[in-house]
Amino acid sequence: MTSPVRLALLGCGTVGQEVVRLLHEQSADLAARVGAPLEIAGIAVRRLGRDRGDLPVDESLFTTDALGLIKRDDVDVVVEVVGGIEPARGWLVEALRAGKSVVTANKALLAEDGVALHEAAAEGGGDLYYEASVAGAIPLLRPLRESLHGDRINRVTGIVNGTTNFILSAMDATGAGFAEALEEATALGYAEADPTADVEGFDAAAKAAILASLAFHTRVGAADVHREGITEVTAADMASAQAMGCTIKLLCIAARGVDSTGRETVSVRVHPAMIPRSHPLASVGDAFNAVFVEADAAGQLMFYGRGAGGAPTASAVLGDVVAVSRNRLAGVRAASESAYADLSVRPMGEALTRYHVSLDVADRPGVLAAVAGVFARHDVSIATVRQGSAGGAPGRDGDAELVIVTHVAPDAALAATVGELRGLDIVRSVTSVLRVEGGA
Ligand SMILES: NC(=O)c1ccc[n+]([C@@H]2O[C@H](COP(=O)([O-])OP(=O)(O)OC[C@H]3O[C@@H](n4cnc5c(N)ncnc54)[C@H](OP(=O)(O)O)[C@@H]3O)[C@@H](O)[C@H]2O)c1
Repeated sequence: MTSPVRLALLGCGTVGQEVVRLLHEQSADLAARVGAPLEIAGIAVRRLGRDRGDLPVDESLFTTDALGLIKRDDVDVVVEVVGGIEPARGWLVEALRAGKSVVTANKALLAEDGVALHEAAAEGGGDLYYEASVAGAIPLLRPLRESLHGDRINRVTGIVNGTTNFILSAMDATGAGFAEALEEATALGYAEADPTADVEGFDAAAKAAILASLAFHTRVGAADVHREGITEVTAADMASAQAMGCTIKLLCIAARGVDSTGRETVSVRVHPAMIPRSHPLASVGDAFNAVFVEADAAGQLMFYGRGAGGAPTASAVLGDVVAVSRNRLAGVRAASESAYADLSVRPMGEALTRYHVSLDVADRPGVLAAVAGVFARHDVSIATVRQGSAGGAPGRDGDAELVIVTHVAPDAALAATVGELRGLDIVRSVTSVLRVEGGA
């Protein structure tokens, strides 16, 4: 039989342990698919003594010397499931420059410095695969990077963070506030002890950058993504959404556009938004992920499944391991990064959005006209106005609730409108401001 493909596994935590298990359990099938056995040459970890259950692997394979392992001549493929920027970046650049193929689940690193990794891969001639870095088990990057290469993608809208989707789904289902829903997510293991990367949108922003780069053949980094998390979403916001037949999701949205000079642009943003219940992403509940792709010829496509967890993520990692191993045996490498389009990134202020604004206003004649005048001054056209009963503290003349939904306008104009409304005497408070996506 052909000599084995030798793997260096960097990291043996939630994902790494499942990679080891699957490599063991499916070794015969994997060997048949690759055309050679897959063998673990070594496993780099931080703590040698850590209890890793009954992993089907020889203890002698563990090391704390990741770099030493990568540099070994008998290592063909480096599988990185450690995470973080350093030392992972140094390790992977070293491996790629040395001609090894790399499989990684590290979204933070790809979004921060994907360029360095792609350049190192081009220099060394190995493959760089990262399917597990976005939406866990869902085959998404390969379809963008290969299957849809004959088409033109116009927009990618996704729910790519399971923790925040669990929290918002719980708020929708039970009426709970953010803090209460986060507590539940933490108790059930859906949120980490420090949930900042998830609830502040950093994790989703990294994934948005990766998706936009692949979908639009351009380079988008984490710093190019407008990011807002879900910590400010209240139970009252969710109730407002429900009253409109909507729910609230943390969306990542990457879209093509054209700037004032006619140049093609891309805008990439992550923020909570109201979407109608009829939208396919509205029914994506719990910790699931889904990504909605709109392309010229293919039309609308939706990818759905488990976006995290040891086994689902390991499934994507192993799919990549099989692909890069087969390429090595065939003496070929996959097409390199496609960034020919070189689109400029549009500032958030120019992104076209709609807003849902709830106001507590003084209940007296002329108020509606004054409020409408503010929208008109900023060239923001109003789609609907709903007047409810008093929601806030009683004012001099009594309060009324106004709920205004706008047509599409530049984000900066909408933000300026809300800013001016906050300064008006007749506006007691702006109780909820949310972007609206997807035809609500
Ligand atoms: N967990 C998921 O559901 C999921 C989903 C998609 C993508 N990912 C990505 O997959 C990667 C791994 O995530 P995970 O959840 O498996 O992380 P994890 O459970 O925290 O495991 C990290 C592993 O890396 C090892 N490690 C950390 N620092 C190291 C160092 N300096 N040198 C050598 N080893 C080191 C740790 O060693 P010890 O075991 O000795 O501590 C541990 O085995 C991350 O990039 C993450 O973003 C995870």
